[in-house]
Amino acid sequence: MNEPQAVYGIVGHPVKHSLSPCMHNAAFEELGVPATYQLFDIPPDELNSFFEDLKKEGSPIFGLNVTVPYKEEVLAYLDSLAPLAQKIMAVNTIVVGKKRNLIGYNTDAPGFMSHLAELGFNPTDKNVAILGAGGSSRAIIATLCMVPERPQSIILYNRTPERSQALLEDLGQRMDISLIKPVESIDDLGLSETDLLINTTSVGMNDEDCLVEKELLHSQMLVYDLVYNKDTQLLKWAKEVGAETANGLGMLYYQGVLAFQHWADIQLDEKVKLTMRNALEENAGQ
Ligand code: ATR
Repeated sequence: MNEPQAVYGIVGHPVKHSLSPCMHNAAFEELGVPATYQLFDIPPDELNSFFEDLKKEGSPIFGLNVTVPYKEEVLAYLDSLAPLAQKIMAVNTIVVGKKRNLIGYNTDAPGFMSHLAELGFNPTDKNVAILGAGGSSRAIIATLCMVPERPQSIILYNRTPERSQALLEDLGQRMDISLIKPVESIDDLGLSETDLLINTTSVGMNDEDCLVEKELLHSQMLVYDLVYNKDTQLLKWAKEVGAETANGLGMLYYQGVLAFQHWADIQLDEKVKLTMRNALEENAGQ
């Protein structure tokens, strides 16, 4: 009889557009590992029983990614947190330990920094503007506050100012957030001085909307949009004014490599990493 396949996957709601399966399944295939990566679209009222089952002896699941809207909520089900996840208080990767204990990691934060490094952008002493104060913004803000390449300033705009305030109050308990200034209007982002503009909102993902007016973008900035399924209006305008641009595919790739390495407890070689990246690029925008 064949050994049952080990199962990995992504838990969220909804998850049907996730590109993570193509990336991780390509890596399993390349490595000849008999495992599969699946989508777990779990509605909120089933999250508790999903995690109860996960902890049971005999569950085929050995590792998970976590996405919207559960990156903070899953903390309640975990047995321990890696130090970075503890600082950020958000988890996008879960390792199932030998006793089916659940360990939470945040690989979004180092994934973002790796992509910035690949783009040749060093945030040291730069002016950063961030749109959005959700789960992705939390990881990016926290990492920018903690890395040695600390920016000079981070100006944070969110449609709902109370959410920015709550995020900063929480992060401020565990790190120095003095470089962050929350603003209540896009006009106060001071984009003429911005070196790096990051859109962490879903605006532009399913529409041609953009939170920022084209006239405020300029050629001296890097415009980074976490949306990766298409060229958003923001990125189109940024290109038109001669700005550098990047979408979230690079961050998705780097967080995925780090997640895989946590699950397998190995370092992936360049060939496997290239397979993962190619799988993402081939499937993006479809
Ligand atoms: P993620 O984990 O991807 O960050 P999220 O936690 O659901 O997802 O956060 C979504 C972000 O997009 C929030 O900052 C949200 O703003 P609110 O806090 O005001 O809801 C932002 N967002 C979504 N739709 C938006 C819209 N139409 N205009 C402005 N901001 C929007």
